[in-house]
Amino acid sequence: MRTPLCDDLGTQYPVIAFTPSEHVAAAVSRSGGLGVLGCVRFNDPDELDAVLDWMDVNTDGRPYGVDIVMPNKVPTEGSAGDLTELIPAEHRAFVERTLRELGVPELPDGAAGAGVLGWLHSVARSHVDVALKHRISLIANALGSPPKDVIDAAHEHGVKVAALAGRAKHARSHVDNGVDIVIAQGYEAGGHTGEIGSMVLLPEIVDEVGDDATVVAAGGIGSGRQIAAALTLGAEGVWMGSYWLTTTEYLETHTKSQTMQDALVAATSADTVRTRIFSGKPARLLKTRWTDAWEQPGAPSALPMPCRTYWWGRRTAASMPRVIPRSSRCRSARSWAG
Ligand SMILES: Cc1cc2nc3c(=O)[nH]c(=O)nc-3n(C[C@H](O)[C@H](O)[C@H](O)COP(=O)(O)O)c2cc1C
Repeated sequence: MRTPLCDDLGTQYPVIAFTPSEHVAAAVSRSGGLGVLGCVRFNDPDELDAVLDWMDVNTDGRPYGVDIVMPNKVPTEGSAGDLTELIPAEHRAFVERTLRELGVPELPDGAAGAGVLGWLHSVARSHVDVALKHRISLIANALGSPPKDVIDAAHEHGVKVAALAGRAKHARSHVDNGVDIVIAQGYEAGGHTGEIGSMVLLPEIVDEVGDDATVVAAGGIGSGRQIAAALTLGAEGVWMGSYWLTTTEYLETHTKSQTMQDALVAATSADTVRTRIFSGKPARLLKTRWTDAWEQPGAPSALPMPCRTYWWGRRTAASMPRVIPRSSRCRSARSWAG
């Protein structure tokens, strides 16, 4: 199965894998897709540099990409400390009480508040600077088009730029901003997601974008049938996220939590919730006692991005799995193409 996207990216298959794990990304690239490493977890650019050194030697010369998070409507400068100051006392008390009730352990001394800093533009820019020194073929951005200078820098290095879109007007603005690949991400998606289902969104974006850019489909894709449907609706390929959470590589090298993976695999399509509690923007998560707690009467309402992620990102990570449909389990990121 080939589409023009394969020639653009140098892959064998029109399959792009978003994953926070370099082991999954490398395995997908080695097997003929494009592994895209999520960079948001790298607070330290030197750590990302070392991981991309590893990617360079563990992808058998095949292409790979990186994903950065530069929200284009959210003020994301400052430090974790500054952002922690923005959290009202009511929210702190609720979170502490709920985590205690759920049995989530305290962080070691000094670790509280570190959270995820990759959302800061200054940190995300350092990701771009580091990544462009490696042999990446794609930079994708969540939550908007990357800034123009980032797009220009990528193009100067011969690197394609992708951005996620949940509405046709966002797709148009990405194209006008110089983005090469629009990822049409439907409501079904794990993680941050919009309001329009893939069946409606994808053809709408394909029509909007026309020949001005390439469109790939995302959201709820976890099987060959769904890939075929996406191509039929006009996409040149697919971008998948949740699927890779169920791989052995992800379990063994990233979460190391059999409980979390079992919960993802056991979940049905009715077991997710779209909520603002993860980051302040709507995101699809696996329903858990943690998400339930936020829906109880008296629970505080979600704070806007970027307050949340910084404060509780690390402590609640274990209670935040997304979901993959039972029928779509992938056993190894090495064997998905078979
Ligand atoms: C655990 C997880 C983390 C994610 N983090 C990011 C991220 O950092 N950047 C990004 O662009 N998208 C992120 N996404 C969204 C994926 O890139 C992708 O668009 C989405 O997973 C597609 O829908 P699917 O989960 O139904 O395959 C994340 C998704 C998941 C499941």
